[in-house]
Amino acid sequence: MKPVKIGVLGLGTVGGGTLNVLSRNAEEITRRAGREIQVCLAAARDVQRVRGCELQGVRLTADPFEIVNDPEIEVVVELIGGYEPAKSLVLQAIANGKHVVTANKALIALHGNEIFAAAEKQGVMVQFEAAVAGGIPIIKAIREGLSGNRISWLAGIINGTSNFILTEMRDKGRDFADALAEAQQRGYAEADPTFDIEGIDAGHKLTILASIAFGIPLRFDKVYTEGITRITRADVEYAEALGYRIKLLGVARKTPGGVELRVHPTLIPKRRLIANVDGVMNAVLVYGDAVGPTLYYGAGAGAEPTASAVVADLVDVVRALTSDPENRVPHLAFQASAISQAPLLAADEFKTAYYLRLTAEDKPGVLADISQILAARQISIEALIQKEPRPGESSVPIIMLTQLTLEKEMNAAIAEIEALASVSGKINRIRMETLG
Ligand code: NDP
Ligand code: HSE
Repeated sequence: MKPVKIGVLGLGTVGGGTLNVLSRNAEEITRRAGREIQVCLAAARDVQRVRGCELQGVRLTADPFEIVNDPEIEVVVELIGGYEPAKSLVLQAIANGKHVVTANKALIALHGNEIFAAAEKQGVMVQFEAAVAGGIPIIKAIREGLSGNRISWLAGIINGTSNFILTEMRDKGRDFADALAEAQQRGYAEADPTFDIEGIDAGHKLTILASIAFGIPLRFDKVYTEGITRITRADVEYAEALGYRIKLLGVARKTPGGVELRVHPTLIPKRRLIANVDGVMNAVLVYGDAVGPTLYYGAGAGAEPTASAVVADLVDVVRALTSDPENRVPHLAFQASAISQAPLLAADEFKTAYYLRLTAEDKPGVLADISQILAARQISIEALIQKEPRPGESSVPIIMLTQLTLEKEMNAAIAEIEALASVSGKINRIRMETLG
């Protein structure tokens, strides 16, 4: 059979890794796909730059539209990232009847509904395994492996950069900025690393996971996102002392009032496997009614782990090239006509337990005032640590763990506690999950 001709948009970390894997494992990949996958054309901004990837037989262009408009190319691999020109390129490829593979979670989370609708109209496939959790085949696992289940919740460490930073801070006492610089140098971080450290990238991935787990449209606008920039070494140490690890966690859960979608730093009991997922590794825990909990673990970023997912999508596309579009795995796991419009919860209605760290004067009555405020809002304290004051200081750190409470009650209680004359500065609040 004739080789399948593909064009690659972007030759950075993931594009370079993809070309290397396709070349190194060409024989095995052909045996799996049933046809040779041949990269004919690749686009980058700077076509003169010397690159550490396999470019034999690949023509380079600085015009990515040349690739999506090339009649010879059957599959376009979008690895440029960002919204534009990625969105226009993908839509143009689809309009030209080409299949698309992308690692671009920002694009899928924000414009996926439009992109999939266009793809369904044209009868082409858009695959995006590499968009979530790097090399872990989590999309395939949820979309196909768990399709007999009603999924009630999932939770994941789905940003390699922030997990790398938190691990380096905890294990090596490294500074935040220094660890971030290394993540960037290793090619883990997004072009704009704010996406990583402010939870936006994890929010994109959670949007995709929730959609394929629950059969709902992609709704990034409904994801609550909070990043890791306010986590201090003190929080990491207090959490350890209390038997917890702090991880940036994405949680999607069906509740009686609607679906909650949230990304935030989270205290997780150390005994949970997921609490021990370190460095650039990612993990996703999925709860299905038939199977119970399942956990998926692997490298969440980096050239070849991500290329592994891109190439797997390519193999899937090549295998399904001649299949009837009606009988392919639906883009968002559920048939497009069966996507549900379940309500999505506002952040005020989330229910979690909390870790609170505050600084208060070391004098009688202060703890009673704080406890009264919490009790008035039905917030129960699970554990409390009050440190000894340092010599010459009259204030002490107080660390509290609470039981489950509504976010709006906690917000109101925090405002009241911060207004007490005996409490100084802001309260650092981190949500907790037992993941039981
Ligand atoms: P890079 O920044 O390393 O690479 C981007 C590539 O796109 C570069 O080769 C760049 O060219 C090229 N490019 C940018 N703009 C244009 C343009 N207008 N025309 C032609 N080429 C262009 O990004 P990554 O490889 O890290 O990421 C690619 C995608 O994969 C993103 O969507 C990212 O979110 C996603 N992803 C990344 C992972 C990772 O570990 N890095 C993991 C999972 C997903 P030039 O080289 O000349 O500048
Ligand atoms: N910047 C992303 C991360 C890349 O660190 O997880 C993988 O999606």
